[in-house]
Amino acid sequence: MSATRIVLHDSFTVGTLDRRLLGTFVEHMGRTVYTGIYEPGHPTADAFGFRGDVLEEVKSLGPTMVRYPGGNFVSAYNWEDGVGPVEDRPVRLDLAWRTRETNEVGLNEFAAWSKRAGLELMLAVNLGTRGVDAARSLVEYCNHPGGTYWSDLRRSHGVQEPHNVKVWCLGNEMDAPWQIGHKTPQEYARTAVEAAKAMRRVDPTIELVACGSSNSRMPTFGEWEATVLEETYEQVDYISLHNYYEELDDDLESFLASSDSMDDFIRSVVATADHIKGKLHSDKTIDLSFDEWNVWHQTEFHSFDGTREAWRDAPDIAEDVYNVAEAVVVGTLLISLLNHSDRVRMACLAQLVNVIAPITTEPGGRVWRQTTFFPFADVSQLAGTRTLRLETTSPKFATAKYGEVDAVVASATINDENGEVVIFAANRSLDTVSELDLTLGGTLTDYRVVEHRVLTGDPRATNSADAPRAVTPASRPVDHVALTPVSWNVIVLKPAGRAN
Ligand code: AHR
Repeated sequence: MSATRIVLHDSFTVGTLDRRLLGTFVEHMGRTVYTGIYEPGHPTADAFGFRGDVLEEVKSLGPTMVRYPGGNFVSAYNWEDGVGPVEDRPVRLDLAWRTRETNEVGLNEFAAWSKRAGLELMLAVNLGTRGVDAARSLVEYCNHPGGTYWSDLRRSHGVQEPHNVKVWCLGNEMDAPWQIGHKTPQEYARTAVEAAKAMRRVDPTIELVACGSSNSRMPTFGEWEATVLEETYEQVDYISLHNYYEELDDDLESFLASSDSMDDFIRSVVATADHIKGKLHSDKTIDLSFDEWNVWHQTEFHSFDGTREAWRDAPDIAEDVYNVAEAVVVGTLLISLLNHSDRVRMACLAQLVNVIAPITTEPGGRVWRQTTFFPFADVSQLAGTRTLRLETTSPKFATAKYGEVDAVVASATINDENGEVVIFAANRSLDTVSELDLTLGGTLTDYRVVEHRVLTGDPRATNSADAPRAVTPASRPVDHVALTPVSWNVIVLKPAGRAN
């Protein structure tokens, strides 16, 4: 047994926690929408055709914001196809996922569902096949109260009050060769800045996210962010980051250390954004929107050549089944986001249902939680109002990819309304138990651990429709906290004498 020392002081803070850090993502991809959140005829479907059992799981998961409608899908999508009478909507070929898109669910249905789920809507505009004109019309349709062509069209579709969508993504992964309408950094920067100008003229209160790189391994990573920000700096508020992590070559140790790579990625983008700030002599700071992140079995996904498949409606694609180790990695990625929450203000777990998702459904049947559901639900339910800056001293272990890494990574928040402190900690080692040694300072000196909840077990264990609770968190005694190998831990602290 070794020890992990964590020093906590209530005046050492990363910053106020923006709840939009706990966002998610619904794309018209595979079975996320059709037979995922939406399935008329399902025994639990509501009057609008959305599944009640899925809605309950989404509420328990507790995301705060939802990005929509893509993803790669948005880069060839006509938003107008998804509004107005359903019977008049065209069926289109979706070029991103080789799917027939019926447009049965579009903007207004999704916005109403988001409201029922308690989610703020974040919309992406199509800067692939379309551009400035479609983007500014969509803002007018969504956010203008009435008395103009697009706002009155919305009202004629039965939506009297504007949606007031605050956050808008200027396209999706436009650096990527797989994107419909893929652009060079210069081409994208010009399109994005002009779209931003027009969208802001329609509604000056909106916040805009410029596309960053599709992942940190892209050949143009760094150059892309610098070029795009230099052109768009005064017109945008955020730069996006996307990254998916997976176990490669049966190297579980390196996979468990994935959050070190997320930390590096975030630090690099912050450095680039601040370099451009200096270069432009700007007073403004660009923050980060990590609007696609998760574990994804991408190698398996890409080994399948979809181009020979028939065009299908809502095919089952990227329906990853997650194990305990992958849940721990999701927990460590959340820890990384929390520890950088001074600059990463928004983030989206990609995606929500069925496609690389924490919630899985059977068409017409059951819904269950993947292992990755639990760390996300813990953070969304328990994270406080401020992220604390921790000093963590942990035992190390060796990895092929990242060298020596810390076995234990952690973040903590304090809730300024009720004083509760929560530590989120993951033990990434495969074999070493680590005992927690807490040093508490400031107003926290009389705090005690009142709850310790753990998700652990066989790293390869999974849940399924027949065994939906095979992997589930369990409570541990609080007199001494030991972090078991490959575990996700939630440790709640309160002042002595206030156990509840
Ligand atoms: O989330 C799945 C896909 O991953 C998204 O459509 C795309 O933006 C990313 O490459």
